[in-house]
Amino acid sequence: MSDRDSINTLSVSVNMTKLITIFGSTGNQGGSVVRAILAHPELSRSWRIRGITRDPSKPNAVELSQQGVQMVAADLSSKSSILQAIRGSDAVFGVTNYWEKGTLEFEVMQGKNLADAAKEAGISHLIWSSLPFVSKGRMCLLFLFPPVHLSEANLYSSNTRKTP
Ligand SMILES: NC(=O)c1ccc[n+]([C@@H]2O[C@H](COP(=O)([O-])OP(=O)(O)OC[C@H]3O[C@@H](n4cnc5c(N)ncnc54)[C@H](OP(=O)(O)O)[C@@H]3O)[C@@H](O)[C@H]2O)c1
Repeated sequence: MSDRDSINTLSVSVNMTKLITIFGSTGNQGGSVVRAILAHPELSRSWRIRGITRDPSKPNAVELSQQGVQMVAADLSSKSSILQAIRGSDAVFGVTNYWEKGTLEFEVMQGKNLADAAKEAGISHLIWSSLPFVSKGRMCLLFLFPPVHLSEANLYSSNTRKTP
């Protein structure tokens, strides 16, 4: 095989891989998705990973980039930064950060930013890490959970395909 053939083969295989952008890649939830894909024999070949962090220079972000993850800066509080970070993705895994301000409005705003940006960028598959709306049931003192659910409600209204 000539050098040109090798380059063409490489270029075809790179083009055939899909791109998943993972929010929370430096944390527990997003990090577990990154590790699961990297450790999977087929998924690691068919998917490239873009990891989102607010600070690509932090040690665990650098560690991820050394494992082949493309680390990109974005902030869930900024829709424009999300939009820029998710462009070209086939799938996006999303989390929100309730603890950043500790208010319902703030977490809903982050969820809405992500859902709106995904819709605007034409993302065909948004994977949303969420929880059931438990305050509708018997566990009504779990005050943290409604914001996640309300963010999720925004996804339902955004026409983005949802993975349960
Ligand atoms: N664990 C649960 O049961 C549960 C339930 C509901 C909601 N949540 C929420 O889900 C989030 C992820 O959970 P976890 O256990 O994986 O948390 P974690 O280990 O503390 O990790 C938080 C992750 O979120 C990223 N992040 C935080 N604020 C961000 C922002 N404004 N913009 C972009 N990325 C941001 C962090 O990235 P950098 O610091 O690198 O920027 C980090 O990767 C938490 O923030 C939590 O509030 C968790």
